[in-house]
Amino acid sequence: MVAPARWPSRVTIVEVGPRDGLQNEATPIPTELKVQFVEALAAAGLPIVETTSFVHPKVVPQLADAAEVLRSLQRRPGTRYPVLVPNQKGLERALAAGAEEIAVFTAASEAFNRANIAMGIEESLGVIAEVLRAARTAGLRRRGYISTCFGCPYQGAVPVETVVEVSRRLLELGAEEVSLGDTIGVANPRQVQEVVGRVLEVVPRERLALHFHDTRGVALANVLAALELGITTFDASAGGLGGCPYAPGAAGNLATEDLVTMLDGMGIRSGVSLGAVVAAVQPVLRALGRPSASKAHQAYLATQARQRAASGAG
Ligand code: HMG
Ligand code: MG
Repeated sequence: MVAPARWPSRVTIVEVGPRDGLQNEATPIPTELKVQFVEALAAAGLPIVETTSFVHPKVVPQLADAAEVLRSLQRRPGTRYPVLVPNQKGLERALAAGAEEIAVFTAASEAFNRANIAMGIEESLGVIAEVLRAARTAGLRRRGYISTCFGCPYQGAVPVETVVEVSRRLLELGAEEVSLGDTIGVANPRQVQEVVGRVLEVVPRERLALHFHDTRGVALANVLAALELGITTFDASAGGLGGCPYAPGAAGNLATEDLVTMLDGMGIRSGVSLGAVVAAVQPVLRALGRPSASKAHQAYLATQARQRAASGAG
């Protein structure tokens, strides 16, 4: 008999809906609803909820209320609430609003980085070095994202060597975790194993996360490929919200509901309640005026409706 794959027993889901999700929505969401969204996601069992972003408010007006969101939050003990920070100015704003954890970001593609943050990779690593140093001194936890690790909307293919080198540099500069982004959702499972396999030469497994966008419906397959290599941290977004305003064609992140459903079915613990995530994102979807992009979310609602009809009929 062929030996089955050895799956991890536990996975950490990093919820990015309130940041990666809402940064790309044209419809303005009231600050109070954002706060409720973050609180409900934490109550659903998500251990880490990326709450907002201290990028330039003119560049991402959707999250211009970052300080107010972070300050208004009723924090659950044990839950972490990181925020995205592009530079020293963003760090100062985040610290003033009470941030305890930050995420910096760069890319594996020169062209994408210039479109996103008006800096080349090397220049952005210089800015990041300063931010990480100051964040460490202030006692903050620190994550580093690398965008376009599997393909770029401007330059196309991205050399795996660049992904490896930027990963190595981020750790060297003081990032505690590296998250590899498939910003425009072009990765496939074979490529995921190739890239992750190479990055694992410089980043310890427990410090590596994967951040898939589900533009082409391959995100769960990519998670499976990474699970096979022992990766246990995945970013996801409730309702499948998300995208990057500077990544043309990028759709939402892998939906938290889809990830939780697959992990539950495989007997891999995440500590996250599917029903509670569905309930958490419903008010946001109502405000946006559209259904969830998540199949598991739709299936959950359909099952609930059938059960209600059956109990009403009985
Ligand atoms: P810039 O205009 O080059 O900034 O923007 P600058 O340093 O030249 O400063 C210009 C002015 O902006 C100055 O003000 C600064 O103080 C101010 P002035 O002196 O002229 O009055 N400024 C700021 N104000 C508030 N907050 C700040 C800030 N920084 C400067 N943080 C910058 C450069 C990086 C700031 C800008 O391009 C930016 O904010 N870009 C962010 C774009 C973004 O948010 N993209 C989406 C997030 S990344 C993502 O989604 C990918 C990810 O999910 C992973 C994946 O999927 O791959 C993480
Ligand atoms: Mg993203």
